[in-house]
Amino acid sequence: MRDKLQEIERLAKEELSALMADAADKKEALENLRVKYLGKKGELTAVLRGMGGLSAEERPIVGQLANEVRASLETLIEQAKTQIEEYELNKKLKEEEIDVTIPGKHGEAGRLHPITQITKEMTDIFIGLGFEVVDGPEVEYDYYNFEKLNIPKNHPARDTQDTFYINEEIVLRTQTSPVQVRVMETRKPPIRIVSPGRVYRSDAVDATHSPLFHQMEGLVIDKGITMTDLKGTLELFAKKLYGEDAKIRLRPHHFNFTEPSAEVDVCCFSCGGKGCRLCKGEGWIEILGAGMVHPKVLMGCGIDPDEYSGFAFGMGIERIVMRRYGIKDLRLLFENDVRFLKQF
Ligand code: DAH
Repeated sequence: MRDKLQEIERLAKEELSALMADAADKKEALENLRVKYLGKKGELTAVLRGMGGLSAEERPIVGQLANEVRASLETLIEQAKTQIEEYELNKKLKEEEIDVTIPGKHGEAGRLHPITQITKEMTDIFIGLGFEVVDGPEVEYDYYNFEKLNIPKNHPARDTQDTFYINEEIVLRTQTSPVQVRVMETRKPPIRIVSPGRVYRSDAVDATHSPLFHQMEGLVIDKGITMTDLKGTLELFAKKLYGEDAKIRLRPHHFNFTEPSAEVDVCCFSCGGKGCRLCKGEGWIEILGAGMVHPKVLMGCGIDPDEYSGFAFGMGIERIVMRRYGIKDLRLLFENDVRFLKQF
């Protein structure tokens, strides 16, 4: 029996060291080994069950030896278990190690489209002058886009604005001017608004034309507003946009919804008025249309022209963007090639 116990101890130790050397799942193998030798149906227990057949002198001696074998195996298995756990923890730590020296991945930061940037710059100037920014629909009634602006059906003024008609009554707005009407119909003076947005004209695409472009409308209505207010406001705007030296001039023009009307030029900021390629030798660059709101338009919106007067203006945003950045082809602004847009 003693031999048997010693044999068990030897075999268990051998098996344990083999297990520690190459078992794939050491934890499971170790548990199996423990059950095999020390478990209820294990080999050591089987030997102890046979102790009944021993003599009274032999029993305590064998019993002690059995306890020693059990204790020694238990200690060894416990040690092996700790070793395995340590090994596994280290392995996990190694695998999950973060190399803080690896260069990070850069997210590409987006930016605002140049049209959006300039529009913001323009509206900011007017906000500084006490204007409010309002929005209007791009799909608009013919009534607001033309009729209410004193451009009746069959009026030749419509010819200059090739219109996308949705149906007889509905158009894609050809100008931001209908926002004037919408504001005057719904608010009481004093009114001081600007309204930037998309407008549409059925033009073929080329370097200077696009069926979609942007305008910014302005409208001021109050008691005693005159042409000098218009000029002063636009001059301030030009100085903010083009620099303190900027000068403007007003040329007589015709718009149905203003009287008198003017086209407004800014002194060429490239040559200072001498004449260059940018201003085509003129010294001046046209930036907008403007005028005193026509009494008929005021009346049509329920505003008494004897009590109130006002001025309005409308400017194309793309042209301002193109001149600011020296962009020669309008199409670049709409193709949205990231290599192009990245530059602004
Ligand atoms: N809406 C005009 C256009 O698209 C521009 C314009 C001219 C707007 C005079 C105005 C204005 O408000 O008073 O050509």
